[in-house]
Amino acid sequence: MKLYSIPVLALLSAVLFTGTAQSQTIKSSLNPKYDSKVDSILRLMTLDEKVGQMNQYNGFWEVTGPVPKEGDAAIKYEQLRKGLVGSMLNVNGVENVRAVQKIAVEETRLGIPLIIGYDVVHGYKTISPIPLAEAASWDLEAIRKSAEVAAAEAAAAGINWTFAPMVDISRDARWGRVMEGAGEDPYLGSKIAYARVKGFQGDDLKDVNTIAATAKHFAGYGFSESGRDYNTVDVGTSTLYNDILPPFEATVEADVKTFMNSFNLLNGIPATGNSFLQREILKGKWAFKGFIVSDWGSIGEMIPHGFAKDGKQAAELAANAGSDMDMESRLYVEHLTALVNEGKVKESVIDDAVRRILTVKYELGLFDDPYRYCDENRERTETGKPAFQDAVLDMAKKSVVLLKNEKQLLPLKKSGMKIALIGQLAADKDSPLGSWRALGAPNSAVSVVEGMKAYQGNSLEYVEGVKLTEGTPGFAFETKINITDRSGFEAAKTAARNADVVVMVLGEHGFQSGEGRSRAELDLPGLQQELLEEVYKVNPNIVLVLMNGRPLVIDWAVANIPSIVVGWHLGTQSGNALAQVLYGDYNPSGKLPMSFPKNVGQIPVYYNHKSTGRPANPGSDLVFWSHYIDSPNEPMYPFGYGLSYTSFEYSNLKLNSESFAKDGSVTVTIDLKNTGSLTGKETVQLYIRDLYASVARPVRELKDFQQVELKAGESKTLSFQITEKSIGFYDNEGKWIVEPGDFKVFVGGSSKATFEAGFSFQ
Ligand code: BGC
Repeated sequence: MKLYSIPVLALLSAVLFTGTAQSQTIKSSLNPKYDSKVDSILRLMTLDEKVGQMNQYNGFWEVTGPVPKEGDAAIKYEQLRKGLVGSMLNVNGVENVRAVQKIAVEETRLGIPLIIGYDVVHGYKTISPIPLAEAASWDLEAIRKSAEVAAAEAAAAGINWTFAPMVDISRDARWGRVMEGAGEDPYLGSKIAYARVKGFQGDDLKDVNTIAATAKHFAGYGFSESGRDYNTVDVGTSTLYNDILPPFEATVEADVKTFMNSFNLLNGIPATGNSFLQREILKGKWAFKGFIVSDWGSIGEMIPHGFAKDGKQAAELAANAGSDMDMESRLYVEHLTALVNEGKVKESVIDDAVRRILTVKYELGLFDDPYRYCDENRERTETGKPAFQDAVLDMAKKSVVLLKNEKQLLPLKKSGMKIALIGQLAADKDSPLGSWRALGAPNSAVSVVEGMKAYQGNSLEYVEGVKLTEGTPGFAFETKINITDRSGFEAAKTAARNADVVVMVLGEHGFQSGEGRSRAELDLPGLQQELLEEVYKVNPNIVLVLMNGRPLVIDWAVANIPSIVVGWHLGTQSGNALAQVLYGDYNPSGKLPMSFPKNVGQIPVYYNHKSTGRPANPGSDLVFWSHYIDSPNEPMYPFGYGLSYTSFEYSNLKLNSESFAKDGSVTVTIDLKNTGSLTGKETVQLYIRDLYASVARPVRELKDFQQVELKAGESKTLSFQITEKSIGFYDNEGKWIVEPGDFKVFVGGSSKATFEAGFSFQ
């Protein structure tokens, strides 16, 4: 197969180079299959060309149009032709990808193919629920499948690398990027991180339906102070090792090919210039073999952080700290060659980075065929195909969480009812795509109105009620919420008055969460709360369907509204999924992956907190214990919480032994019965508390869970194993330790599980 116009590379790809040239300073193997091929290429490369591999540019001109003659685009184009670009992002579609790949392969001296990256976060064109919503399914197989679908569709459109999954743990719902992650828990977060990497990468990266994944943002980004994006992060070692790092380590176990560092300072050092994180932990302790890309411009951002003097020093610090590829700060391509010549960055550092990058390119099969992702026919047949739609619909239904169903308004009867459907979001075909919707076409989601219309036995009247935003919100623009127009209230009230049941779809627009969308208030934006209260006055039989990218503060609704459903931003099939849940064709099974606070003042509020020395009220009028004088400590809805249309009863928690020793285990069993009248699925959760330890442990920690579907009246005994893995933790030096001591185990349907028993480890 003749693919390259530069024969030298084709030859080298096939020949093992065994020489011992000076430049071969790298010792460790990245992938024995490709080590010598990579080294052979490395020997041919000039220093500039090596640095070029470490340079990633954003898509910069209409690639299939005329060649840029001037300005920024012209400079980048020239650099691409000189082999000074190793990767591009945001170049989409086979035609465009082929065009840039052709330049890299046919016009550069060595013809090294580009790796093409894109934020395929929850779908490419067929959009899945936002990742936080998917996490609410606790269904690892469905989550893996969702990533697999996203990968297949993106790969068919020329993409071979996604900047996902984001595995940042976060306890702060003000941070807009919680929508991209798996919530507050490191155990669930690690399982999901693993599943997502496997979904994107499959078992063999050479399969053209798979793409390389990125674990991001390394590390600590989810702990931005006051939930404000890009803000400082200061966390203690216990939190770093036990909460922040485990999901990242899980991605290394899943063989993730790349990492992205992050915008934040971590304890005073920018993550991008942090060699403790990147060299010591990731490439050292965890022996990560892939490469690390910076976040967008984050190398340059070390200057305003007050860490680097100027761009040149920023490049030096980032490269020496282990950042292998520069996303768009353009400082590597500008300074690294000089820095090597001046002895400030060793050439072995550059070689290591380039070896890592080239190895991933080999693993993707790009050296066998740089156009292997560029098949117009495949792009046509794969994009949006029915099997993808089925998969995202399945994922969307599993992501819905039922918070409240007091008057049993749900599931809705299928005939003979008058339903008023209220809220701008009910008819919105764009917002459900959520933030980071890749190439999901504007207005391509099924709206709730459309989804509910498929059920024709009832009469359905839709009224907007109130606008949510001014203008059309977009990915890069501020969302303005200065709505003052109440003129739609009357029509909403009239429709509600005439209805048996009112379904109100309220919450956040898809672009009110995501990057740069931190919020100081977590209520229903704009006049939606007011509308809800007005409608309630005329008809209290309300089903509130939230559309949200994060936990919201809904205290009034919880006190007054009989049924509440968390509908997140569920993607392309949003309206169908919600209609099927509301009508009971899917019995909701989601459980919250993040606590819903009672008010913003409680934040960070999370279930796996440490105990204080004064955890409980010492007496009714004593004030000196850890609490607020104006709010309970408990969140509105805790982690792991979620109802079903049926009911479950737990009983008979048993341990086969009250203690275990090294290499042993304790078996925990519990009976679960479906006591309602419908088939339903429950996620049975097991939590552990270590009562005392050399570093104090949380009041409870999720250590295992199982999903089980039971028919009405059916029972099952579930069994869990507690091993050393369930009780160990990282000490403040990052060492995994297992200490003898006393523990409690809790089993139930949320982090408030009440069945408990004690055991010890000797
Ligand atoms: C985000 C990353 C993303 C990158 C490229 C940055 O602003 O923080 O998560 O991958 O942009 O789009």
